[in-house]
Amino acid sequence: MKAPLRLGLAGLGTVGAEVARQIITEQDTLAAQAGRAISIVAVSARTKGKNRGVEIDAPWVDNPADIVMRPGIDAVVELMGGADGIALDVARATLTAGKPLITANKAMLAAHWGELFDMSARYHAPIMFEASVCGGIPIIKVLREGLAGNRITRIEGILNGTCNYILSTMDATGRDLDDVLKEAQAKGYAEADPTFDVDGWDAAHKLTILAKLAFDPRITTDAITVSGIRKITSDDLKKARAAGMTIRLVGRAEKGADGLKLSVAAVHLPLEHPLAAVGGAMNAVSIKADPVDICTLIGPGAGAGPTASAVLSDIIDIARKI
Ligand code: NDP
Ligand code: HSE
Repeated sequence: MKAPLRLGLAGLGTVGAEVARQIITEQDTLAAQAGRAISIVAVSARTKGKNRGVEIDAPWVDNPADIVMRPGIDAVVELMGGADGIALDVARATLTAGKPLITANKAMLAAHWGELFDMSARYHAPIMFEASVCGGIPIIKVLREGLAGNRITRIEGILNGTCNYILSTMDATGRDLDDVLKEAQAKGYAEADPTFDVDGWDAAHKLTILAKLAFDPRITTDAITVSGIRKITSDDLKKARAAGMTIRLVGRAEKGADGLKLSVAAVHLPLEHPLAAVGGAMNAVSIKADPVDICTLIGPGAGAGPTASAVLSDIIDIARKI
């Protein structure tokens, strides 16, 4: 068997702690999949000594951006979040050191795609980001690999688990948005700053990444018309239901005769629409492409387990390839 893949893990919150727990408790299964053991050899976060619900036997590094310089690190997993600041420092340090970067950070990718992928090419350091869009749905691999031979004309879907949890719970129970948002935060679905979820920006970052992969890597978030769910009341949902409809936050990128149109907005959907049936923190992405026609993926879009699943798939990919 090959030598273990030695990871530096920056970020030990909802996602990072679950990734660590999986690597520690499922080491035999993961080693069998990866063809080598996977071990965490350095960790970093904001608060040293905080209870993470998992015992990680790896040295603590005060500055997450230094993690890549620890002896023997093969790859860095960035699970801190934020478009700039420390997450971007970690990404730059990792790539310039020529090491693979695994990240779930859609805000950073949407904002710094060009710079980071230029570095990736220059230093021969892959960037893996399956967890950045739609949590447990393997949509990045589907676009890059499964549908690689297609010409995509439309991507549409529910890209934010928090908003979907809020809307579907408000619809089912009549509770108000702020109350349900607190529950989504407690379940680990929301961003550290939940305004990114509620105002549509998290979905817009994900749509940016999907549009870059499907249409043109130069597309930026500025090209998306963005609105969120902040103003929706349980009364709006009640009225929609009386008219045979519900409300969902939908991200959409569509290529037409007058170019590519991108939007994130709360829309009324007839109850028989496939996206209307997607409830809780589930996500769904529907891709219209030639020659496949329409291909729809549905699955858990947020939370510790689904996101760790996507991060682990990237880690196994790296373990197999380097
Ligand atoms: P959390 O807020 O739960 O965890 C963030 C982690 O990063 C914490 O361990 C925190 O340290 C650490 N951190 C934050 N800022 C700093 C800093 N300045 N210096 C050092 N460490 C820092 O976030 P999540 O786990 O929910 O999300 C992590 C990433 O995954 C984000 O990019 C998010 O967008 C993405 N993501 C999240 C999903 C989810 O469902 N939660 C789904 C898909 C992607 P400490 O714990 O010590 O405070
Ligand atoms: N806050 C995000 C969501 C996490 O609710 O969808 C998953 O990317």
